[in-house]
Amino acid sequence: MLSFTVITIFPQMFASSLGHSIVKRAQEKNLVKIALVDLRDYTGDKHKTTDDAPYGGGQGMVMKPEPLVAAIEAARADHPQARVILLAPQGKVFKQSEAQRLAGESDIVLICGRYEGIDERVKAYVDEEISVGDFTLSGGEPAANIIIDAVTRLIPGVLGNENSALDESFSDGLLEYPQYTRPEEFRGMKVPEVLLSGDHQRIKNWRREQSLEITRQRRPDLLADNPVKPAKPAQGRHAPVYTALLHFPVYDKNHQVVTTAVTNMDIHDISRAGKTYGVQGVYIVTPVKSLQKLALKIIDHWELGYGSQYNVTRKDALALARISDSLDDTIIDIEKETGQKPLIVVTSARDTGTERTSFVALQDMLQNTTQPFLVIFGTGWGLTETIISQADYVLEAVEGASDYNHLSVRSAAAIILDRLLGR
Ligand SMILES: C[S@@+](CC[C@H](N)C(=O)[O-])C[C@H]1O[C@@H](n2cnc3c(N)ncnc32)[C@H](O)[C@@H]1O
Repeated sequence: MLSFTVITIFPQMFASSLGHSIVKRAQEKNLVKIALVDLRDYTGDKHKTTDDAPYGGGQGMVMKPEPLVAAIEAARADHPQARVILLAPQGKVFKQSEAQRLAGESDIVLICGRYEGIDERVKAYVDEEISVGDFTLSGGEPAANIIIDAVTRLIPGVLGNENSALDESFSDGLLEYPQYTRPEEFRGMKVPEVLLSGDHQRIKNWRREQSLEITRQRRPDLLADNPVKPAKPAQGRHAPVYTALLHFPVYDKNHQVVTTAVTNMDIHDISRAGKTYGVQGVYIVTPVKSLQKLALKIIDHWELGYGSQYNVTRKDALALARISDSLDDTIIDIEKETGQKPLIVVTSARDTGTERTSFVALQDMLQNTTQPFLVIFGTGWGLTETIISQADYVLEAVEGASDYNHLSVRSAAAIILDRLLGR
């Protein structure tokens, strides 16, 4: 059981907040005990004075040291293990990590200041100062309530569902994903399709992605100083990743659907990047038999022919290259190899009109699932809308430092693989 002792001149302020909901139930279950100490009980005069004018002049009153120190000493005598905390705007800012730390204590004493604050000498009797945020409250009581609430919900057995505290905002250093309940459609706004799919892995991925995205947009500081932010993957420790270079269907510059030619350089460079970043297979997708033959000839030269002896490292890279008739065949092939249908990720430099998945979010997914991923690169003027609409994730575009955005597919593939799988 965790005991809180709150030292305040307004104990009656706590009646409502501590007498409801989770904190109330936690007390009923004897998981926390909360004692309210009226500071006036530790005053020595008949007016029960707790404040006095500041030395040096100035606005307002200052809390006298004698009653506060007497109340602290009495609390320490009752709770020798107590962590004594002064609530003060100058204190360390209270975060989820602090709540977790305090949930591991056995006895906590919270001192609520009032007026213009407390006599500085009282600080010699406290273990730490905590602020609940960069604003000034009229007194420490709301701050004490915040701490009691945030700490209590972390005590095992307090929340009905043990996992719900783990899922919440901040518990893993991220903001929580959006939540929905019935009805499925409210005033034209629909619940995202993935949440109705029943596919637990997809739902988990979507939630993680949303969490990362919302945190990135609204609180990038959390990602910057979060010790559990998605780590860069250790080599080889990620979901199986395959790439496909689509030669059909892609757009030409007039937005016509065409088949592009296979190139020697693409096969070499994407295979070499693939090998470097631990990709499982590099598919060259074209329905044109003569182009398949050409691709095969290039691969065989380095795999089996003279090239295989001339340059062994190139042979290793080209061992990843595979030729496929269509995207569907590629997906089936991966499914046969891994036993699971791959999640489809498409890449595009142009605005696809769809929601984009960030590199960070996809990188995180790759580390947290075992399901294979197929990352599709387009040739010509890019992948068609039909292909993009089949994707589970449309990856954000690689952006440079200028308006010119015409990377070769080989460059884009290397950059993307590095962002997703680089150490
Ligand atoms: C009006 S405030 C005193 C502010 C003080 N004059 C100053 O500028 O720092 C009175 C009391 O409210 C509490 N308090 C105010 N803001 C707080 C915060 N952000 N976090 C924790 N306690 C706070 C403290 O106990 C403080 O002693």
